[in-house]
Amino acid sequence: MTIQIPISEESALQSSPVGQPIAAPFYIGQVLIDPPILQAPMAGFTNYAYRQIVRQYGGVGLQATEMVHATGMAWKHQQKAENPDRLWGVPDEARPLAVQIWDNDPEVMANVARRLVDEYRVSIVDINFGCPVKKVTENAKSGSYLLSVPDRMGQIIERVVEACGTTPVTAKIRLGCSPDKINANRIAQVVENAGASALTVHGRTAADMYRGHANWERIAEIKAYLKRIPLIGNGDIRTPAEVVAAFQRYPVDGVMIARASLGRPWLFHQACCAVRGLPVPPDPDLEHQRECLLQHYDLILKRFGEPKAAILMRKYSCCYAQGMPGAREFRSRVARINNAQEFFEIVERYFPRLSFLDSGDPASDSDENLPGDCHEDSCEIE
Ligand SMILES: Cc1cc2nc3c(=O)[nH]c(=O)nc-3n(C[C@H](O)[C@H](O)[C@H](O)COP(=O)(O)O)c2cc1C
Repeated sequence: MTIQIPISEESALQSSPVGQPIAAPFYIGQVLIDPPILQAPMAGFTNYAYRQIVRQYGGVGLQATEMVHATGMAWKHQQKAENPDRLWGVPDEARPLAVQIWDNDPEVMANVARRLVDEYRVSIVDINFGCPVKKVTENAKSGSYLLSVPDRMGQIIERVVEACGTTPVTAKIRLGCSPDKINANRIAQVVENAGASALTVHGRTAADMYRGHANWERIAEIKAYLKRIPLIGNGDIRTPAEVVAAFQRYPVDGVMIARASLGRPWLFHQACCAVRGLPVPPDPDLEHQRECLLQHYDLILKRFGEPKAAILMRKYSCCYAQGMPGAREFRSRVARINNAQEFFEIVERYFPRLSFLDSGDPASDSDENLPGDCHEDSCEIE
């Protein structure tokens, strides 16, 4: 049975008086995670454009790429082809930065991890043991499939740790393969004994996909099974108050946020203020959000060119519509754009300048859908 994270925003805020930090920074190996709030890897979303925007607002202790397929990367290297798109920005961007890899073969993964350390100088190599998508689990015997073969997990981690030298290696898991096969406590020990430097747990099983609620009681249980390495909790955290409550109620060293930050890159800064006991700034106004969306488009356009940028902005733009007037209509229209002109026309209409808003808003049907109506199904194998 999963238990909903019992957090009421009101009670969480009452118990985090301004002035008192709620949680302390922590280390993953030699890497300081300050604040102890992490940006989750999300395939198809957490590329360099998104990461730059998040970084600009601040408040995130560690950022992560999308998951990179080790065999795909090794093959590209062998063919002297360009590196995977998912490594866009990695060589140059600010640190700390974790690159996440997925696969099944310890040797291939170790070789790729060594290149990430030697050539890309990444801060952390993270290994995906949580992806529940069939093409990763059934076809490639990777991601969350590996939770069913802990020995294999251990071998993978050991080889990758060995290959990475002093660069820390971390693991991201789910609670187990299915509700009747929850084995996260045992897996945590395997991860730690194999030499990993941190464990992140998404409080669902692979079979749950994104249904139900993340089970933070189960995440909390894992703490007792770890002797040395930090535990990072993940799942269903949507507000600064929920970050505070997660730290107050559960023995986690860090909190990781995924879906709620899509289209709300300022969330980390807000959460950081809450955790540091500072006043939480309100969401930026619609005009600011519009600028943020346009900046996102600009970064994507420069990298991918116009036709592809329009296609990619269909999904990114939808994320920015959370809670805004006319969100449903905006999403249905923006999901059909084919070029820059169509994009700008729609943004102009649904993210009006303040002067326009003052004279009355033409569209008022708001809906509160999470951008996380998207899920890992949207990840492509590189
Ligand atoms: C679109 C999408 C893509 C994701 N891709 C990855 C991924 O590449 N690697 C990974 O470890 N988890 C991935 N996840 C899972 C998230 O990192 C996170 O564990 C999950 O969404 C629960 O956190 P949340 O409730 O804050 O969204 C993805 C999730 C979504 C919605």
